Amino acid sequence: MAYQNINVEISDNVALIRLNRPDALNALNSKLLEELTAALADADGNDKVRCIVITGSDKAFAAGADIKEMSQKGFVEVYHDNLFAAPAAEISEIRKPIIAAVSGYALGGGCELAMACDFIICAENAKFGQPEINLGVIAGIGGTQRLTRFVGKSKAMDMNLTGRFMDAEEAERSGLVSRVVPAAKLIPEAMSAAKKIAERSQIAVKAAKEAVNRSYETTLQEGLQYERRLFHALFATEDQKEGMAAFLEKREPQFRDK
Ligand code: CAA
Repeated sequence: MAYQNINVEISDNVALIRLNRPDALNALNSKLLEELTAALADADGNDKVRCIVITGSDKAFAAGADIKEMSQKGFVEVYHDNLFAAPAAEISEIRKPIIAAVSGYALGGGCELAMACDFIICAENAKFGQPEINLGVIAGIGGTQRLTRFVGKSKAMDMNLTGRFMDAEEAERSGLVSRVVPAAKLIPEAMSAAKKIAERSQIAVKAAKEAVNRSYETTLQEGLQYERRLFHALFATEDQKEGMAAFLEKREPQFRDK
């Protein structure tokens, strides 16, 4: 499928999806979101893809939902259409791991998109924020919910109430991002992490993603039980035999996703 607002490249079993609306700092309009969710669903269903990276430009991962497109909408329309509910749900349904590689601005819906990915690697120039308050609204795709779980109430309140931006150093210190790298190393670092994931047993990878995500939806005891059951279940796979045998034989494992 040919896209106008994103580019997709597949190499080494990794789909690299680049948001590409440079004139609007990759603002998430309906067309871009439609293409992004289609590309993600495609990648999820493509046997050649084992991990996904979403990135933007050097200046902006995404500067938020498209303000021009939203500005004329009224309550009845956004409520009736359930604005942003569908893309948010579709992204959360993707079972393959998604890494957000963030350079520059990740604001509003851009920050929320990055947080909807499985983890975030960012460049030293990254800036995260939920500035919707400056527009007379609040975040609508997780900026008050996911951000609070990631960085705690105080910082989430600060960012949502004042609209201030968080730089890369603070984002790493606060647990919003997993790694900060120089801008020139962002894509190599994200691709190298994605390739590592792609080399693992995809059964174990899916289980790990499901188990970590479950921690946000349940009590500690139920989460631990869920994790233990998935851990037990993986002993039914050939990849568990192969992974452990390879360790004992001091060789690289050859996983077959079985
Ligand atoms: N929507 C639409 N267009 C946007 C945009 C957005 N979110 N962000 C930037 N653009 C456009 C600008 O309008 C401008 O277009 P023109 O050249 O046609 O005027 C172009 O991108 C470049 O932007 P700036 O000239 O503003 O660039 P800058 O370097 O001076 O500033 C910025 C960069 C600080 C990111 C600034 O663009 C900005 O504040 N953007 C808006 C950020 C924002 O409020 N995001 C939240 C959106 S609401 C939301 O996301 C709701 C939700 O939770 C779902």
